[in-house]
Amino acid sequence: MSAVITTHGLTKRFGPHTAVDSLDLHVPRGTIYGFLGPNGSGKSTTMKMLLGLTQPSSGGIEILGEPLTRASRTRLLPSIGSMIEAPPGYGHLTGRENMRIVQDMLELSTPQIDRALATVRLTEQQHKLVRNYSLGMKQRLGIAMALARDPSLLVLDEPTNGLDPAGIEEIRTLLVELSGQGITIMVSSHLLDEIDKMAGILGILAGGRMIFQGSREQLFEHSVPDLIIETPEQQAALAQVATIAPGAPDADGIRISGIDKDRTAQVVHRLALAGIPIHQVRREQQSLEDVFMDLTGREGLL
Ligand SMILES: Nc1ncnc2c1ncn2[C@@H]1O[C@H](COP(=O)(O)OP(=O)(O)OP(=O)(O)O)[C@@H](O)[C@H]1O
Ligand SMILES: [Mg+2]
Repeated sequence: MSAVITTHGLTKRFGPHTAVDSLDLHVPRGTIYGFLGPNGSGKSTTMKMLLGLTQPSSGGIEILGEPLTRASRTRLLPSIGSMIEAPPGYGHLTGRENMRIVQDMLELSTPQIDRALATVRLTEQQHKLVRNYSLGMKQRLGIAMALARDPSLLVLDEPTNGLDPAGIEEIRTLLVELSGQGITIMVSSHLLDEIDKMAGILGILAGGRMIFQGSREQLFEHSVPDLIIETPEQQAALAQVATIAPGAPDADGIRISGIDKDRTAQVVHRLALAGIPIHQVRREQQSLEDVFMDLTGREGLL
């Protein structure tokens, strides 16, 4: 799969502080890339570098297959829609008037503006002052501004921040719909839960470093589930498995924590050889949240 964004050793230092540390990002074409990390982990700084809004201290960026330089930036930017940190828009103007500014700036057509407003479901509210918009409407207007140019790549920094569950669901539905139209979307959040349902690929930052990049399924592979074996011969089973993995008594048998597939196979084999009756064997999956917490050392806010 070709990449829309690739970085090599991307680094940003602010004085002695390294905010983004040697990132190798890989955002495949057509995916929703969920960019996760606790507050201060470097998400916004990374996105600003990708958009040429901030200069990297070192490392390289390729956007749509081209190295991002001062010269290529002007050519590449029209195909990237973005919303960084707070949603944009002037409160004393209506949604439509704000869109008009974007239209004039980017020389867009009126149908493009109408379409963007319709996509984010703001057509009916377009003549209201933005200061009277709800936070969700402001976020959607921000997305409309990013969308109006018909971009092939959307970079959205925390578009669900501060929204209630219904608002989050609305943005999620919208992004999935846009992704279905072939737009590659990079979306950040500090809450795993807001992103994991829509993202095909997750990139997880902690302290400026990428601690995981891959699919949800690959993230689950980092989980070390418990193994639960139901057996009436609890003590005998515990004695048999002791040299493979220490277990503990459980309601109807024994429980072995944090055990991988290989050792699970060994345990089952050992018990079967010893003639211990097994009524049920099951693995109890960690939640994605738990996996995430383990990876970030339970230091983050996620
Ligand atoms: N202009 C700047 N000058 C100095 N330090 C900065 C600057 N911008 C960001 N930082 C620092 O870089 C680190 C990363 O900040 P960044 O805003 O990228 O994090 P974030 O992951 O977007 O956090 P949040 O979830 O709070 O938005 C932080 O320690 C921050 O204080
Ligand atoms: Mg941020």
